Amino acid sequence: MPHPVARFTALPEYPLAWIPARKRELTQRGVDVIDLGAGDADLAPPPRATEALAAAARIPAMNRYGFGMGLPAFREAVSGWMHRRFGLTFDPFSEVVPLIGSKEGIAHLALAYLQRGDVAIIPEPGYLSYLGGTILSEGTPYRFPLRPRTNFLVELDDIPDDVLRRARILYLNYPNNPTAAIAPRPYLERVVERCRELDCLLVYDNAYSELAFDGYTPPSIFEIDGAREVAIEFHSMSKTYNMTGWRCGWAVARPEIAGTLAKVKTFVDTGTFMAVQAGAVAAIESWSDFVPGNVAVFKERRDAAVKAFHEAGFSGDVPRATMYLWLALPEGIPSAAFAERLLEEEGVVVLPGSGFGVGGEGFFRVSFITSPERLAEAAVRAGRVLSSFAERVA
Ligand SMILES: Cc1ncc(COP(=O)(O)O)c(C=O)c1O
Repeated sequence: MPHPVARFTALPEYPLAWIPARKRELTQRGVDVIDLGAGDADLAPPPRATEALAAAARIPAMNRYGFGMGLPAFREAVSGWMHRRFGLTFDPFSEVVPLIGSKEGIAHLALAYLQRGDVAIIPEPGYLSYLGGTILSEGTPYRFPLRPRTNFLVELDDIPDDVLRRARILYLNYPNNPTAAIAPRPYLERVVERCRELDCLLVYDNAYSELAFDGYTPPSIFEIDGAREVAIEFHSMSKTYNMTGWRCGWAVARPEIAGTLAKVKTFVDTGTFMAVQAGAVAAIESWSDFVPGNVAVFKERRDAAVKAFHEAGFSGDVPRATMYLWLALPEGIPSAAFAERLLEEEGVVVLPGSGFGVGGEGFFRVSFITSPERLAEAAVRAGRVLSSFAERVA
């Protein structure tokens, strides 16, 4: 039997991959499973989006290949929204890249910018397509641990010079999955300046730009002076509009960088279903009507989750963005063992910090993607597992 090569075997297990099968097995055993694993809410997309998708799907031309161009109206909607939301101008045809979800674009981009010997700086814990893209491109990941010490920020000054000299990509994601950290503007200014000095591509993953609370408005990296020289920014329809399954997102960058990603994609895919892009146009057009109400639902869930998990004995910051709580475990409780027992004994799915790499050890992630009542129930169950661990440690 032919065997896969080293770059494949270097891939770790994907932390969410086992969840559906395990959930099914538990449900068949009659367990009342509460899934707080994936960042995938139980809420509906904007009704206008589903109507536009259905209408477009009935038009024969929409069922043909989209190719890289896709639906011009989608590019124009993205460009218009980037202007309304951030005050930034991007040419819809040379500076916007439609994606089959932002994960796809993030992973494929590395193929054009990394080769053997090049370093990619990767936040750990972090979204795993950074690591996947790097390993599949035969780049060398340099994992920067996101810990409370640096407010969960990647601090380039803490990285050895010889690593920085070889760095071709820096992945940043704020608001952050899984820590829910946000990046202050002076920090972003420092990072952009350093990337320019190092001639390092800044891959800015802004999947959670619209999911923020308490008056916080996440910026685009392109609001920072000089970012156009070195950055590409990824956006997603998934979290903003509850459209995770649609697989639709985009990247924006200056034409040379956008064109590089677009060229890679011409060899690996043939575009998002154009009816999906038509639905996405309707969603983007409903942004000002839809997003505030949707964020209010997440805020209610956040408040319920924070209260319940704090009452159950866990500590963690109140997130100002994303759909995640990043909760600390007492020393001596391995996150994988905790998550495993929480699932096996109490039927609650959470993600152990170690699933995001060793830098995530000591924490676990809760997605506040279901009702306040179910979140409260999950916290009570998690508290029981915590107490039984504490008894064992004592
Ligand atoms: C930080 C981050 N980036 C990107 C994505 C990918 O989003 P999508 O591929 O659905 O657009 C996710 C999804 O969980 C994420 O958490």
